Amino acid sequence: MVAEQTIPEQTYNPVTPAIVEELKNIVGARYVIHGDEEKLEPFSHDEILEKAYRHMPDVVARPRTAQEIAAIMKLANREHIAVTPRGAGSGLSGGAVPIYGGVVLLCDRMNDILDVDAENMMIVVEPGVVTSQINEHVAPLGLFYAGYPMSLETCYIGGNVAENAGGGKAVKYGVTSRYVLGLEVVTPTGEIIELGGKLVKDVTGYNLLSLMTGSEGTLGIFTKIILKLLPSPKANVDLLCLFPSARQAIEAVPKIMTQSGITPTAIEFMDRSSVKAGCEYLNETIPYQNAGACLLITVDGASEQQVEREYEAIGELCLANGAFEVYVADNFTTSERIWKIRRNVAEAFAVISPIQVNEDLVVPPSRIPDLVDGMAEIGKKYNLFVPTYGHAGDGNIHSRISPRPEVSKEQWYQLVPEMLHELYTLTAGLGGRVSGEHGIGHKRKQYVPMFLTPETIEVMKTIKRALDPNNVLNPGKIFDV
Ligand code: LAC
Ligand code: ZN
Repeated sequence: MVAEQTIPEQTYNPVTPAIVEELKNIVGARYVIHGDEEKLEPFSHDEILEKAYRHMPDVVARPRTAQEIAAIMKLANREHIAVTPRGAGSGLSGGAVPIYGGVVLLCDRMNDILDVDAENMMIVVEPGVVTSQINEHVAPLGLFYAGYPMSLETCYIGGNVAENAGGGKAVKYGVTSRYVLGLEVVTPTGEIIELGGKLVKDVTGYNLLSLMTGSEGTLGIFTKIILKLLPSPKANVDLLCLFPSARQAIEAVPKIMTQSGITPTAIEFMDRSSVKAGCEYLNETIPYQNAGACLLITVDGASEQQVEREYEAIGELCLANGAFEVYVADNFTTSERIWKIRRNVAEAFAVISPIQVNEDLVVPPSRIPDLVDGMAEIGKKYNLFVPTYGHAGDGNIHSRISPRPEVSKEQWYQLVPEMLHELYTLTAGLGGRVSGEHGIGHKRKQYVPMFLTPETIEVMKTIKRALDPNNVLNPGKIFDV
């Protein structure tokens, strides 16, 4: 939905001057932002463009420790005020937006790397560490963290865990949850608990780590994160495979996955308009001009010979399935140039059209061609621009749908709900879900019932009510309780 968002009635108490004083006592006066609209405004939104999804906080608190966060949660329960945790604000579903005002709990000061444990191949970090810094830190030890969200240069690891971020390497390495071995969590009622640890195996009690990972800041605030690291691959090659049409490119994806006998690190898809947008945004050029779409395929492994064998096999499979050109990028500079274009597609579209909806659909990988076809049909039917790009190898496709010039703003707002309903019906029919990696937040919550049964949603709400009886931690996200 892009028109006015209706926020359901929920009553929270106002943040009084006395509460602001108490927050200052907890985190220190200089770490509280209050009474200055201009300074508070950046915390009223994430990277969603539409104003309808914004809401101003009353106050921003920047704690340094788990104890300070626990004290803030106790205060929030006592005074019945809403608290919205926030990392870098690079989200795309409104998870960090304080839709009931109250306190934004900003984790930017909690940005220490606490322990690099090379013997166990683990790292312990605070939530405000920028994701790409983890790899910069462990690379000299021959280790790497496999999480690779497209915003890795700006996002925080705490947000990655909260959203169970996916990204570009999920085909081979899976999503964030696979690497979260332990968490220190401040619960909504202000208790500090520890889950998991430096353990590769652990079935001592419920798997609350999995429950917390992807809970979108509604069940707890992470104050320490233990991540599993892997040995760095010794070799790494990217293929840029050009296809005449989007259909041919996308149809090659399930073939690569099932017929090559290889699990590539990444299979990213960009249709022509997505490559063009990314290139123009960065003032870059790659030879896509004659292509309808391209696949960016990464292969990594333990030796150059192995990687060479694998990328050659994949390149040949692409050529046999319609690719008219396969470029090999076997050095960091060229690889990074291409990946940078891919990572910036979303930003590029954000600049091109201020009105748009931003989709994060996921289907079983073999149904990707049906999804992309269906999206093109919907674009035609509603006269909309429906570019497609994303993580085709794992079934996760993005789009930034926007009106063509001849569609007026009024028409657009009228047709969006119907169009989205059709898009989500298509996705659900393919066995898919409304979000693969960006989360529900408040942006998609009205559509959750199209994908989950009432019984399933009720179990989720029961968990939320049990952990957050006063509904003060990130209320109004995922669903309303
Ligand atoms: C991407 C982000 C938007 O894949 O998820 O570009
Ligand atoms: Zn993505």
